[in-house]
Amino acid sequence: MPLRDALALVVLSLLALGALSIVISTLRLGISPMPTSRAVRAVMLDFVPPSLGGEVHELGAAWGGVALALARRCPAARVVAWERSAVPFAVAWLRARASGLANLEVRRADFLEADFSRATALVCYLWTGGMRALDEKLRRELPGRPLLIVTNTFLLHGWPESASATAPDLYRTKVARYDRVP
Ligand SMILES: C[S@@+](CC[C@H](N)C(=O)[O-])C[C@H]1O[C@@H](n2cnc3c(N)ncnc32)[C@H](O)[C@@H]1O
Repeated sequence: MPLRDALALVVLSLLALGALSIVISTLRLGISPMPTSRAVRAVMLDFVPPSLGGEVHELGAAWGGVALALARRCPAARVVAWERSAVPFAVAWLRARASGLANLEVRRADFLEADFSRATALVCYLWTGGMRALDEKLRRELPGRPLLIVTNTFLLHGWPESASATAPDLYRTKVARYDRVP
């Protein structure tokens, strides 16, 4: 087989394996690595003060777009991006390395096992089941604790919102902000 054909076969096999890995992770986790659009990301960032310090966690970082934007917006904070799916994690990790942002760490780990005791903010774009699991974790581990939470589309039901906004995108996406764990 000529070298060019062999290389094409390797590249196609890697792409197929990557796609298969994403499909399997999506089925296992219950959510795809769909990224937040630019318009919605801008609304989410508006709720995060640039002076914020401490630990800012992005829950389910996918390809890293929101995590990179958070690390740039909040230079005094340490941004920790959690992602379980291998391919999006690898891309987010490479983007973080290439960005040179010293305040951004991308972890291939489950945010439901994270220690948020030093967190100043959580930022997320999850799904109904993920928000329910987050709700239970925060009420159990950090009841009554002041904590900035910014969420895209999926809400923490029964929590008092401190603010919300509608993004100027096709879906008029809602972004909500909470300031304290009930
Ligand atoms: C809709 S995407 C969000 C993408 C990104 N946050 C953004 O806004 O552009 C949700 C991501 O959460 C990840 N995820 C789901 N459950 C997770 C868990 N328990 N721990 C870490 N990542 C998780 C999925 O693999 C997926 O990439």
